[in-house]
Amino acid sequence: MQVGLKVWRFDAASGERRLQEYELDAPEEATLLDCLDIVKDRHDGTLAYRKSCRMMICGSCGMRMDGAAVLACKTRMYEIAEAGHVPVISAMGNLPVVKDLVVDMAPFWTKIRAMKPWLETGYEEPPETEFLATPAQMKSTSSVAAASRPSRPAKCSK
Ligand code: FES
Repeated sequence: MQVGLKVWRFDAASGERRLQEYELDAPEEATLLDCLDIVKDRHDGTLAYRKSCRMMICGSCGMRMDGAAVLACKTRMYEIAEAGHVPVISAMGNLPVVKDLVVDMAPFWTKIRAMKPWLETGYEEPPETEFLATPAQMKSTSSVAAASRPSRPAKCSK
């Protein structure tokens, strides 16, 4: 299938921001991340973005498509391409942009470290099998996965 993408590029050194359009040939099952890989491999090796697990877990490929937060490895392009739509791809909006679609994750990691979203066993002797977590302990760690996704800012409740 033929896929069109308009990608917001950003060069931190010059401060230049520009919208660049790409046309590429991709398999029908391609995701947005696959399409970005095709762009980088065959059309423009200077395009910068992040990826890791490729299976909707780590959140590394978080970005925006037409203003909505998406995981690039989850977003199928078939219907978009078939409709002839050329989506605008940009970096996540809640962190400073380093280059193109790559954002500075330092503020995120600072918050994660402050939250300590992991279980600490203290001085307990290790059991013979594994440490069992209570439901309450598991609930306290569930925010890690949510925090790693590119979602809209949470509403403040006072
Ligand atoms: S690469 Fe890990 S969520 Fe997409």
